[in-house]
Amino acid sequence: MKIRLFSFCAGLFLLGWSMMSCDQKPKSDPVSLKDYGAAPTVLDIDAYTLSNSNFRTAIWTGVNLQSTVMSIPVGGDVGLEKHPTTDQFLRIEEGTAQVVMGDTETSLTFVKTAGKDFAIFVPAGKWHNIINTGNKPLKLYSIYSPAEHPHGTIHKTQEEAEEAEEAEEAANQHFFNKNENFMTRELIQLPYATDALAPAISRQTIEFHHGKHLQGYVNNLKNLIQGTEFANADLETMVRESDGAIFNNAGQILNHNLYFLQFSPTGGGNPSGRLAQAINAAFGSFENFQKEFEAAGVGLFGSGWVWLAADRDGKLSITKESNAGNPLTKGLKPILTFDVWEHAYYLDFQNRRADQLKSLWSIVDWKIVASRYN
Ligand SMILES: [Fe+2]
Repeated sequence: MKIRLFSFCAGLFLLGWSMMSCDQKPKSDPVSLKDYGAAPTVLDIDAYTLSNSNFRTAIWTGVNLQSTVMSIPVGGDVGLEKHPTTDQFLRIEEGTAQVVMGDTETSLTFVKTAGKDFAIFVPAGKWHNIINTGNKPLKLYSIYSPAEHPHGTIHKTQEEAEEAEEAEEAANQHFFNKNENFMTRELIQLPYATDALAPAISRQTIEFHHGKHLQGYVNNLKNLIQGTEFANADLETMVRESDGAIFNNAGQILNHNLYFLQFSPTGGGNPSGRLAQAINAAFGSFENFQKEFEAAGVGLFGSGWVWLAADRDGKLSITKESNAGNPLTKGLKPILTFDVWEHAYYLDFQNRRADQLKSLWSIVDWKIVASRYN
């Protein structure tokens, strides 16, 4: 192998392509510590790692892979953590470390010393920590697959890294309790007679919409999730984390559950309390909110849903979602929804979607909608 390499280098030399020996490092561009995103990139990872003095700087973030450089102060550590679905590779460029790994936080039975040029492989699902046991900053780079941190991540200190992690966990926290009646994966029981919502929604429409369309989504989902990671997942988890057919059917079940269960034959009128205040704050008045909500529903091209949704601070907005879409995928909590698939109104209103949307206000149970907001 060495001989072949020598011949190749000698050949290059003789051809006059390069005066540089094959062992010599090519000249690299000056270090510019930033996230190069998913762009084609060549850089001197050693120089980048040694130049970095932030706790963590992301330098490349692609679809399936991410690289960060880290500097751990003397006596510090990476922090005990576990990446449930992410494998991790690390390489130490400077310093000395103790590497620990284990199946639980308290049984870190794998213990190794590592130093310059050592590689560390952390399997998904393993608790792990890397402790700087030397007398200078521990400089290392890390490769995650898939990416672990948002594009452009810079954590100047470990405290900052922990704060960002807590914020991310909070953002991933579910809005709904598994026991809410609209979270069932079975066909919901309607809390009113099939003719009770007429004329806003006729008996015939309810029978088809609930008994045929929603039943179809329930049946499909049951078959689709068998043997998958979603077999025991709740609807909110499926809507947040799945895609394709599972997302479409789980989304349609959750959307229809929220839709059917927000109506009552004694509904209508205006919201009150905190929800009413938030609607006034966001839209000026309840009447204006209704106008904007109807306009969003009418303006939605094709099939979908119009939503009133709240962010984590309670601020309300109207979103339009195509097909099985739900504001959950935008980090928003769904509060109220009107179905603008034709199957929701065609028997009663034919192509007059605007008339259907206007008539639905008469059956909205604002107590139920408010309970989703609180
Ligand atoms: Fe529908």
